[in-house]
Amino acid sequence: TIPIIFDTDPGVDDAQAISLLMASPEIELVGLTTTFGNVYVETATRNALLLTELAGQDIPVAQGAAYPLVKTPFPPPAWIHGADGLGNQSLPDPTRKPEAVCAAQFIVDKTRERPGEITLVAVGPLGNLATALQLDPTIVDRVKRVVVMGGAVHTGGNVTPAAEANIFSDPHAAKRVLSAAWPMTLVGLDVTHKAVLDPARMKRIASHQGELGKVLQHSFDFYADFYEGALGIDGCCPHDSCAVAWVLKPELFKTAKGHIHVVTEGPAEGLTLMASTDRDYLDDRWTQGGIVDVCVDMDGDAMAAWMEEVL
Ligand code: BDR
Ligand code: CA
Repeated sequence: TIPIIFDTDPGVDDAQAISLLMASPEIELVGLTTTFGNVYVETATRNALLLTELAGQDIPVAQGAAYPLVKTPFPPPAWIHGADGLGNQSLPDPTRKPEAVCAAQFIVDKTRERPGEITLVAVGPLGNLATALQLDPTIVDRVKRVVVMGGAVHTGGNVTPAAEANIFSDPHAAKRVLSAAWPMTLVGLDVTHKAVLDPARMKRIASHQGELGKVLQHSFDFYADFYEGALGIDGCCPHDSCAVAWVLKPELFKTAKGHIHVVTEGPAEGLTLMASTDRDYLDDRWTQGGIVDVCVDMDGDAMAAWMEEVL
């Protein structure tokens, strides 16, 4: 099995990805770590506890970043994910409680217990990973790989013309994480916009997921309304599930190697630029960070079909 810590801000597409992980026999979900992003961090933690509880899985949840490292916090996008992160539904409070340690410490501790084994999959703003790097810089040698859903290398952003939401929400954290020398894969909008989870497929998925399925269906309906109104898409892009797909189905993706530069200030804050390792550049400021496997293409239809198969 593949041990994973999933760093998340659930969030509708995060909830889909958490369900995928819980349904995959190849995955050992070591823990969920939460961050602000789609919702306030307390809500993200509640949802992480609730989703795992609905699936009857006793997976540790550690709460993390409440705010960006440097930039001024802004309210979460309730019109996209609902104020509760799950499309505004009245759900009971979870009975389980979060871990006593914070997310960054949880990540450091687990990677110390199991050096070289754990894959960190991060699908929200990157404060927890940035703090883990600061708590223990040697973590770069102890993770198996870091897989980040974030950024856009060849296409535009989704919150500004330049920036994707996870990077935009904490560009300073993203800069630290994406320039660190750990084995890393970037799964950005270049590929996540290629998969669409359509209403018929979602219905079939929900029908196989019991109580959890009802929650996924309700949140999907809310999220899909946003997609239809804002983007004219019938369904939704399962962004965060694409990061899970990269771990379990890498053959769906095409990747290129490059260094990633994150813009932290000005109108292009949150922009991710790639300096390909195939080229020599005059300015070596671009090539200082680690080398990242950047997803540049994905078979979107196969990805959506795979999601349904797993769920
Ligand atoms: C990313 O931003 C969030 O809204 C989604 O959950 C996903 O992680 C897509 O840009
Ligand atoms: Ca997310």
